[in-house]
Amino acid sequence: MRLDRFLSGQTAFSRKELTAMIRSGAVTVGGAVIRKPESQIDPEQAVVTLRGEQIAYAAHHYYLLHKPAGVITASRDPKQKTVLDLLRPEDRLPNLFPSGRLDIDTEGLLLITDDGALSHQMLSPKHHVAKYYLARLAEPFREEYTELFRRGMILREGDGEELCQPAECRAVSAHLAVLELHEGKYHQVKRMFAAAGNHVENLLRVGIGELRLPPDLASGSYLHIFNKDVYSALRNSDISEVCAFCAEYYSSYWIKDCK
Ligand code: URA
Repeated sequence: MRLDRFLSGQTAFSRKELTAMIRSGAVTVGGAVIRKPESQIDPEQAVVTLRGEQIAYAAHHYYLLHKPAGVITASRDPKQKTVLDLLRPEDRLPNLFPSGRLDIDTEGLLLITDDGALSHQMLSPKHHVAKYYLARLAEPFREEYTELFRRGMILREGDGEELCQPAECRAVSAHLAVLELHEGKYHQVKRMFAAAGNHVENLLRVGIGELRLPPDLASGSYLHIFNKDVYSALRNSDISEVCAFCAEYYSSYWIKDCK
């Protein structure tokens, strides 16, 4: 791999800036200063430094974000703040995008990555990777939702109808419910509860497969995670385990807004 390409995949500097830095002698490979941006290196083996700091190589990058409300799930937008704007400048690597979409008012777990294959595997209904949402409901949870959602809800929009895949749903408390989805239709959680006669007041994504929203990760903050941790988490969990997790860590998440 070319040295300039290696560096542009691992840092937030532009190609132009990197070319200038390499030419000025700011980059070493295996301890020797290299001044040619086109020099070939083995990304897995080479020890590369930039201004004295070693640059670790990763084929892809993964950030686990606690998305706050009020930020849109997009890579860029001329008017509104996006989830990528929450990254520190040095973490804004090329080709990052949010994997999947949360509504502007939805909070919680969102993966930002440059790994298209991973994103496809996470989102495609064919792969069945479960997404877990904690919903705060305006009206008390009713036991009948479990059967209703398990049968596959029909969502009506104008003249059209959409059939949802069977979904699991459990109460965490009178007004809090966990919903497990294997697909991502537009406003799906809100529309499913609306079709069942309730209203979602707040929504928090707490899990994707075995990945969980870390309870100590503040809203708007993010963690770097490793490729192996993301791929090994693409398995489904038991909804009871997710309910217990929510009961322990998120049952008072919206306490200030609760009735
Ligand atoms: N379902 C919704 O209604 N909104 C989201 O943001 C995600 C799932």
